[in-house]
Amino acid sequence: MTSPFAAFNFSGKKALIRVDFNVPLDKQTYAIGDDNRMRAAVPTIVKILQDGGAVILMSHLGRPKEGPETKSSLIHITGHLQTLLSNAMNKEVLVQFANDCIGQEAYDKSENLKAGEVLLLENLRFYKEEEKGDASFAQKLSKLGDVYVNDAFGTAHRAHASTAVIAQYFSADKKMFGLLMEGEVKAAELVLHKAAKPFTAIIGGAKVSDKILIIENLLERATDIIIGGGMAYTFMKAQGGQIGKSLCEEDRLSTALDILNKAAAKGVNIHLPIDSVVADNFAADANTNISQSNQVPDGWMGLDIGPKAAESFAATIKNSKTILWNGPMGVFEMEKFQEGTKAIAVAVAEATANGAFSLVGGGDSVAAVNQFGFADQVSYVSTGGGAMLEYFEGKVLPGIAAIAVQ
Ligand code: 3PG
Ligand code: MG
Repeated sequence: MTSPFAAFNFSGKKALIRVDFNVPLDKQTYAIGDDNRMRAAVPTIVKILQDGGAVILMSHLGRPKEGPETKSSLIHITGHLQTLLSNAMNKEVLVQFANDCIGQEAYDKSENLKAGEVLLLENLRFYKEEEKGDASFAQKLSKLGDVYVNDAFGTAHRAHASTAVIAQYFSADKKMFGLLMEGEVKAAELVLHKAAKPFTAIIGGAKVSDKILIIENLLERATDIIIGGGMAYTFMKAQGGQIGKSLCEEDRLSTALDILNKAAAKGVNIHLPIDSVVADNFAADANTNISQSNQVPDGWMGLDIGPKAAESFAATIKNSKTILWNGPMGVFEMEKFQEGTKAIAVAVAEATANGAFSLVGGGDSVAAVNQFGFADQVSYVSTGGGAMLEYFEGKVLPGIAAIAVQ
C-alpha cells in the first residue's frame, strides 16, 4: 500500500518536517556522538528534495530551561547534516540555518528557500511554549511550511507544540508521517498487534519501576518475558533470594511478586537469570566471580547475567518468531560485564536470520547492538527510547495521534 507520504508530490512545496535530532554532543567540542537519528531522517528529506520540494527542519536538542544556550544549539549539527544529505543526493546540498525557530529571519529564509534547498531552524525548546504545547507558538511554526511532515518518532510521546499541536493548522491532506515515522509505527504495530508466536520480550535495565507498565502490557501478548539487568535483583530478593549489594528497589518487591503471579496465572513464562557475573565494586577493574543470582555473597553485586543464564536466554530467543528487546542485561559499557548483553545480541541476530522479526529499542539496547556490530542483523532498530517504551506500555502517543486520527 502506498503511504500518503510516498504518494505526495512535493514539487514546488515547502515541507516543514519535525525531526528528532536530539543527538548526544561532546561537551567541549560539540562533536556528534551518535548520529543514528540524523541518518534515519535522511530518506524522508531526500524524497522531498528529489520531488523538487524544499525542506524546513525543526527539532529540539537537550532540555534547555532558560532560553537559548550555546550547548543546545542545533548549529552544531548543520555541517554533519549537510554531509549526510550531500552524500545521499550525490551532489552538494547546502543547509542554511536560522538562529531562531520563529520570527523574521526564519520566515524570510523559509520564504526564499528554493526547490532542493534545506533550512534548519534553531532549537524549538529555546521557547518554553514548545514543551507547553502552546497553540499560538505552534501556529507561528506552521506558517513556515505548506505541508507538515512528522518524522520525529523519538519525540512522539511528547504532546508538544511542534509534535502534536501544530497538526491542527494543516488540512488532512497536508499533514503526514515521514518515512522514519511510518517505519517505526509499522514495526511497533507488528510486534504489539500481529506478533507471530512464540513472542519473546527481553526487558533489561536498572529499575523495575521504569518497566512495570511495559511488562504488564506484554503479559497480555508475549509468550515469554526475559528479565535481565539490575532490575532482576529486585525479583530475586522478592522471592527470598540473597542479592548482596546488587541494585534493589525495596519499594517494588511486592510489584515484582505481583508480576510473577500474574504471569503464572496467564501462562506467560518469565525467565530470570539463574546466575550472574558478580563484582566487589561498581568499576571496570573490579574483582569478579560467578554466583547464583539468588545467592550473591555479602559485599558483592550482580553486574551482568552469568553464562548459564545467557545460554538459557539464548535458547528461548532462538526458538522465538517475534522478539522485542528493550534494555541491556548488564553494565555492557564495561568490558567485564558485557558478555550477557552480547550473547543476547548474538541470539537475536541468529533468530532473525532464521526468520524471526526482531525489534530493538531503547537507548541502551540500541547502543549495545551498535557497539557489538549487530544493528544490521536485527529486523528493526528503533530511534525511540521513551517513545518506544510508552508505545509498548499501550499508550497513545500524541505525535502519532495528531496525524493518524483526523
Ligand atoms: C529523547 O531523546 O528521549 C527524545 O528526543 C525526547 O527528548 P526528551 O526526553 O527530552 O523529551
Ligand atoms: Mg527522553
